[in-house]
Amino acid sequence: MDLDEIPAEVMARTRVLYLNYANNPTAAIAPRDYLERVVRTCRERDILLVYDNAYSEMGFDGYVPPSIFEIDGARDVAIEFHSLSKTYNMTGWRCGWAVASPAIAGALTKVKSFTDTGQYMGIQAAGVAAIECWAEFVPANLAVFAARRDAAVAAFAAEGFACEVPRATMYLWIPLPEGIASAAFADRLREEQGVIVMPGSGFGAGGEGFFRVSFIQSPERIAEAARRAGVVLRAMTADMTADMTADVMQERGAS
Ligand SMILES: Cc1ncc(COP(=O)(O)O)c(C=O)c1O
Repeated sequence: MDLDEIPAEVMARTRVLYLNYANNPTAAIAPRDYLERVVRTCRERDILLVYDNAYSEMGFDGYVPPSIFEIDGARDVAIEFHSLSKTYNMTGWRCGWAVASPAIAGALTKVKSFTDTGQYMGIQAAGVAAIECWAEFVPANLAVFAARRDAAVAAFAAEGFACEVPRATMYLWIPLPEGIASAAFADRLREEQGVIVMPGSGFGAGGEGFFRVSFIQSPERIAEAARRAGVVLRAMTADMTADMTADVMQERGAS
């Protein structure tokens, strides 16, 4: 999110800024100077910075997604959210935590206490057990994801889908050729080939032109998914070329 692109009148009435890095769906990571700027802006404007750090432990090649609290001054303005979903393969268990100063955490506690009563204690106990197994589980699990990432990048590249190699998260954010809408591509891939990817447009207009792959399957299955995606890409490219040729012929006929 480029703060300079936010209109001044929106900025003037902004009370909360939500940021998520490493990012789902783009896999983008935030440089430290960017985070410093964000914290500075939030302090100047008295904005609460909600920092979603769900992928804090899903970094590759030695990259460690930073906590917002590594940035000077963040303690006064930020609350950081973590989740067991990614680090411990506990997606759907709905277990995580938030870290903030007593004033900010107290406000969340107040809102939460009027909304629900917290997660079932059995799941909380499982969360504790997971955290206690960090050393046995997390580095090896990360190595599995790194191997899947490498397999996914290579397999999709071989089918004509080049993308940046993500340094964090479990996602590839892959550009589509101009003229191929992400929803149409994802629909055809699902209907004709039985492969599910997320169309970028599903995340908002800014995501158009991309699709997201979650590398949450074995390298073999990912390679098969990439092969099928290549079939759809070539079919849609051929359709597009045929349409363009028909248009040119029609124009020529008219003139
Ligand atoms: C950025 C981000 N935050 C939070 C979540 C979900 O966390 P939880 O399962 O703890 O609700 C996800 C999962 O997709 C995510 O990508």
